[in-house]
Amino acid sequence: MYQDNPSLEAKEAYVPGLTKEYVSRTYGIPLDEVAKLGSAENPFGPSPKAQEVVMSAGKIDNYPDWTAAPLREKIASKYGYKPEQVICGAGETEIFPWIIRAYSSKGDKVLMFVPAFPIYHMVAESEGRVPVFIGMGEDLDFKWDDYLAAIKPDVRIVFLTNPHSPTGRLIPNDRIRQVCKAAKDQLVVLDEAYIHYSNTNGGMDLLKEFRNLIVMRTFSKVYGLAGLRIGFGISTPEIIAPLMHLKPTWNMGQLQTAGAIAALDDDEHVKKTIAEIAEMRAYVIQKIAALKGRYSVVGQPSSNFLLLRIDDPVLDSTTLFNELLKRGVIVKDGSVSFIGLGKRYMRIDVSLKKHMDRLVNALTEIRGGR
Ligand SMILES: Cc1ncc(COP(=O)(O)O)c(C=O)c1O
Repeated sequence: MYQDNPSLEAKEAYVPGLTKEYVSRTYGIPLDEVAKLGSAENPFGPSPKAQEVVMSAGKIDNYPDWTAAPLREKIASKYGYKPEQVICGAGETEIFPWIIRAYSSKGDKVLMFVPAFPIYHMVAESEGRVPVFIGMGEDLDFKWDDYLAAIKPDVRIVFLTNPHSPTGRLIPNDRIRQVCKAAKDQLVVLDEAYIHYSNTNGGMDLLKEFRNLIVMRTFSKVYGLAGLRIGFGISTPEIIAPLMHLKPTWNMGQLQTAGAIAALDDDEHVKKTIAEIAEMRAYVIQKIAALKGRYSVVGQPSSNFLLLRIDDPVLDSTTLFNELLKRGVIVKDGSVSFIGLGKRYMRIDVSLKKHMDRLVNALTEIRGGR
């Protein structure tokens, strides 16, 4: 049955975070109190400007502009590029397979750190490409020498995530420059899904220096539009043009385009979200530090999530995941959501204070063996 594409056989589909409704129903916790800390969404909700536009949208009886022209123009003018340098998709996740198909052939290698956002290797594998995994160092820091040394001719695409997921570590622009220089014949895909939370401009300006770079961004995170499905890539017109042939013609609906355009102008919502998340990140890191010997936070996250290390030797990530669920806290079990992470890590979103307090109370209460 799978003879035409053996890479699809017995593959696990993506494992998403659980829903609030499921946890509320299963454990009898009021919906509003469930702390959903597994999908890195915006706890302050959607950009109000986007919501207003989407709710009052007309024109849904007409086909949209198939290229998402109004959104490409908006993104281009916001970041100082031309519309033909922008490609839009139903989230970054829709664009990754086009990049893989346009810039590598079956059997070619695709380079990435591990653990990383699982979609990179899943898409590469389902398209018959071969992921090359570069492991992390002791404190899950990047092993740059290994990564750079792995950029060989049979590698066609190299992935970077900034800040990285699941660690939240920020990659300085000079390091990205080094990768772009080493990848002379490869395409560098720089995924900046969480860049707003880093308090930097990210690598968008590097597009002026390098022609082998595509910068990916999403409306799912700081703009609070994960359910609307919009992401984009910016690069040279030459790199974007082939992707337009792979893009399903009508993938960008009127509502997606209109919502994203409004969200890009919603500086107030973005600023508020970034400031409050930064404050809560410091708050929860300090609370977890007080549980020294049982848990610790990996590195200094620049993201709206952190990676919790379980130091208690009798507790593992799956036990902790289930115990947290019973207490109305949804997180990502590192051993299920990320290959190569093992049984001692959880990725946990930074969110509202009441959710951070619920998390810390639960972590304090849960002891190994129980
Ligand atoms: C690193 C990273 N990139 C991209 C995405 C998905 O973005 P989108 O919702 O635009 O498909 C995620 C989602 O969790 C992510 O963690």
